[in-house]
Amino acid sequence: MTEHREDHLTDHSYDGIQEFDNPLPGWWKALFWGSFVFSLLYWGWFHVYPGKSIISDWEAEVEEARSSGYARFGELSDTPETLLALMAQPDARKIGATLFATKGCAACHAPDGGGVVGLGANFCDDLAINYTDLPGILKVVRSGVPGTAMVPQTSLLSPQEIYFVAAHVAGLRGTTPAKPRPLDPKAKEIAPWPTR
Ligand code: HEC
Repeated sequence: MTEHREDHLTDHSYDGIQEFDNPLPGWWKALFWGSFVFSLLYWGWFHVYPGKSIISDWEAEVEEARSSGYARFGELSDTPETLLALMAQPDARKIGATLFATKGCAACHAPDGGGVVGLGANFCDDLAINYTDLPGILKVVRSGVPGTAMVPQTSLLSPQEIYFVAAHVAGLRGTTPAKPRPLDPKAKEIAPWPTR
């Protein structure tokens, strides 16, 4: 709304040039000072005070959802029981299969775990090179196989995720891959997985 205001001349004159006193409208000044005050608050909160940004809030929430999602599978430990329990739960198998497919395992071990010549081992047969029991799979995933392309996978997987992907690997045993990698001379027959 514009209110009628008498033109009002300021009392100075520069080389005969005079000036009207026309203040900026109130809404404009409110915006100006408002954004000034907002910028100080913003700066104080996000740059000085260790304030949380929307992104760090989101990341914290995702992390919490992830770990509480794993929490429902109970305590995870390096025992055959933990892996057998995960292998028996379709939900856990789904998590393991997704990790296997998305964290690079499938590229070297084939999507169905049949192995790739010159790269990863076959998980579907009763043979293994670097482990003889279920917890042994966890160790290989954590520490890798020195001198091969199998490097420790700990930078790609959280400590919990290692259990799920290992359960998936163990569960591939006995399945029939499309193109099984030819027998590796280093591979030795391992005992069947224990039953629960
Ligand atoms: C860059 C290729 C590569 C990637 C990626 C990879 N691996 Fe491997 N993996 C190998 C190679 C090579 C070996 C060693 C086989 C050998 O000892 O000759 C191996 C061995 C293994 C073994 C032991 C096999 C055996 O018979 O002893 C397991 C278990 C394993 N990988 C699981 C995984 C999992 C789980 C992932 C994903 C998180 C993964 N690997 C990602 C290449 C890879």
